[in-house]
Amino acid sequence: MTAKIQPAIIEDVEEIYSILKGFNRPAYTKDLITDLINNKDSICLKITDNGKIIASLGARAEGRDAFWIYFVAVRIEYRRKGYARQLMEKFFEEAKNKGAKRVAVDTPEKELFERFGFMEVGRLPKWQGERDQIIMFREI
Ligand SMILES: CC(C)(COP(=O)(O)OP(=O)(O)OC[C@H]1O[C@@H](n2cnc3c(N)ncnc32)[C@H](O)[C@@H]1OP(=O)(O)O)[C@@H](O)C(=O)NCCC(=O)NCCS
Repeated sequence: MTAKIQPAIIEDVEEIYSILKGFNRPAYTKDLITDLINNKDSICLKITDNGKIIASLGARAEGRDAFWIYFVAVRIEYRRKGYARQLMEKFFEEAKNKGAKRVAVDTPEKELFERFGFMEVGRLPKWQGERDQIIMFREI
C-alpha cells in the first residue's frame, strides 16, 4: 500500500470537503473542517494515496477527557480496504496521548463503530436526512 496517514493541514480543507459534501449532511461545512484542523485540541487526519486525499477523520475535544468524532469518511472507490480502520486506530492513539478517556459519535454507520467497541446510547430519527443518526459511546 502506498497510502500515508498524516495530520490534515489547512490546505486540505477543499479536498476533504469534496469527500464530505457527497453525504448530504448540512453539518459538514468547510468551516467545520477548518475549525477541526486549526484547533490544537482537535484531531483531523487524512490518508493520501499518491498525493490524493482518499479518507479523513475529524474529532473535537469536548472538555478535558472526551472526544466527539464528527466524521470518518472514505472515498467510495477506496472503501472496504481498511482505511477507516487505519484512521480509527491512529485517532485512538492520539486521543489517548491527549488524555481522552471517553469518545462519542453520532453516525449512520453503526456497524463500523460497533467493530471498534462503541455502544449505541441513543438515536436521532432521520436527522439531517433520511437516515437515523445513532449516538454511540465508548471508553478508551
Ligand atoms: C463507514 C466508512 C467510513 C467505512 O470505511 P472503510 O474504509 O470502507 O472501512 P474499513 O475497510 O476500514 O472497515 C473497518 C471495519 O468496519 C467494517 N465495515 C466497514 N463498513 C461497514 C459497513 N457499511 N457495514 C458493516 N461493516 C462495515 C469492515 O468490515 C471492517 O471490519 P474488520 O476490520 O473487523 O474486518 C465508509 O463506508 C464511509 O465513508 N461511509 C460514508 C461516510 C459516513 O457515513 N461516515 C460515518 C459518519 S461518522
